[in-house]
Amino acid sequence: MKSVASAPGKVILFGEHFVVYGVRAILCAIDKRITATSQLLDERKIRVRSEIGSVELDLDSSSNLGSITSFMKLFLYIARETLKEFNEEKGVEIVLESEIPAGIGLGSSSAACVAATASVAGLFEKKSKEEILKKAIESERIIFEDASGADSSVSAFGGLIAYSKDGVEKIDFKNNLSLIIANSKQVHNTREVVSRVREFKNKNEKLFSEMCEQESKLVENALLSLKRNDLRNLGLLMSKNQEMLEKISVSTEKIDRLIEMASKMSYGAKITGAGGGGCIISLVDQSNVVGTLENLEKVSDCFVAKIDYEGLRYL
Ligand code: PMV
Repeated sequence: MKSVASAPGKVILFGEHFVVYGVRAILCAIDKRITATSQLLDERKIRVRSEIGSVELDLDSSSNLGSITSFMKLFLYIARETLKEFNEEKGVEIVLESEIPAGIGLGSSSAACVAATASVAGLFEKKSKEEILKKAIESERIIFEDASGADSSVSAFGGLIAYSKDGVEKIDFKNNLSLIIANSKQVHNTREVVSRVREFKNKNEKLFSEMCEQESKLVENALLSLKRNDLRNLGLLMSKNQEMLEKISVSTEKIDRLIEMASKMSYGAKITGAGGGGCIISLVDQSNVVGTLENLEKVSDCFVAKIDYEGLRYL
């Protein structure tokens, strides 16, 4: 028997970086998924296969997870814990297939974690989204100690969430907006960009705290615009958010160029995630999707994404 589950990636619509200092961020799940397929093996092994690499653990050997440095160890952990939970003596194989480009801030590792957790558990029992999320966050923290859980939450529940240090809140209105995601192809390191922003804050305490206030107001305003489906205002707010990100120096020349091309026809555009590379998002509808795509295709790889309202899916 095979157990198949999938979970979506995400973008940050508003509030990245400022969220680290207490401002709320708005995240949304996108219609690009990772699918995990699990099946029990007669051999006492855990095997994980994906396009970005494969890893194996012999359940009877003395080698343990500690000696594995690859990020894929996350999935070995998920599988081993689930086999233990259900007193299963057999091994397991997980195959991961992704529509989400990896390492560019679109939440691919959290989505993989949610999908793999649900898929392996699904060999024994179909667990609720809440239960899967709890396990997925626990597993993610094996690798990313300070993972906030925001990416996994939006992946498990789908739709939009507001996230702050106090926790995750589901936003329960629906909106049919479309985004164009364009990849700068500049490799970024979230941790390094976050620490650069901290330096900026330490050198400019007063300015930074004013910026946090402005960003909080912007996020409140964005929530209202989302509720009213007011794309024009939402786009303006995205562009304002981009200006804030530029002030804290997380944009790059390449990103500035993408923003310029995206802004020609879309309602607004901004970085999604840490910046210093990675992706931008631009807000569009029927009237400007083709024009914006044409402009962005001249300078980047890009694709259209919609909000995914389903989150974790068992197939
Ligand atoms: O690069 P991403 O999409 O994982 O986003 C990082 C978001 C930051 O606000 C920059 C950091 C954080 O931990 O919230």
